[in-house]
Amino acid sequence: MSLYAIGDLHLHFQTDLKAKAQLRDRAWRNHEQKVQKYCLELIRPDDTLVLVGDHSWGRNLDECEQDLWFIAELPGRKILLRGNHDMFWDAKKTQMLNARYAGKLLFLQDNFYSYEDYALVGTKGHCFEGPFYLNRRGQIIGWDEEKAEHARKLAERELERLRVSFEAARAAGYRKYILFLHYPPTSILEEDSPFTAMAEEYGAEQVVYAHSHGESRFHDSILGEKNGIRYSLVSGDYLRWKPIKILG
Ligand SMILES: [Fe+2]
Ligand SMILES: [Fe+2]
Repeated sequence: MSLYAIGDLHLHFQTDLKAKAQLRDRAWRNHEQKVQKYCLELIRPDDTLVLVGDHSWGRNLDECEQDLWFIAELPGRKILLRGNHDMFWDAKKTQMLNARYAGKLLFLQDNFYSYEDYALVGTKGHCFEGPFYLNRRGQIIGWDEEKAEHARKLAERELERLRVSFEAARAAGYRKYILFLHYPPTSILEEDSPFTAMAEEYGAEQVVYAHSHGESRFHDSILGEKNGIRYSLVSGDYLRWKPIKILG
């Protein structure tokens, strides 16, 4: 039994992507087939695959139906986290999604899922992404304060949701946690954040995140060990579409 993760599949079986850079980028060519091939090779029926957000370009559930079926047909137990592009998923409607896809997909929001003696907890998260002001040498010399304040409020809301997830797991008797965030745990300005603090507070063993795709963004946040926690970026193009083993 193993636990795998990958994020940012950005599927578009029903969505026209004419204007999207994704179509022109070599790293994304036939990425659906690559994901499917690697999953079929790696993942056994009793394994778990966590999809760390940005599943589909569809703007509502009808436009995502084929994308979600593609994920449902991958091997193993599939747990989905909310990404910033997942327009089909209103946080308040998570129970409806869990009922609609019962036996096929599990939606992680204000709840948790167990994996052996671990609780898999998580939420979308948030971090400030600019705009930043650069000098001639490309160094950051300032940023949009208003947008930074707005980002801080969005992060606060997400921290409340994350605590609900941790507390649900703790109330059920779990003491070992793997934390999934769609956004990186820190912005490019930060060494740590309220998300890393909460991971440390509950003693999470790992923080797994996505959202940073495109080579220039692969080092936007923490990678590797910090304060006893392992941080992993699992965006699909960073992994070259092969899910990474988190446990097992
Ligand atoms: Fe994404
Ligand atoms: Fe994203």
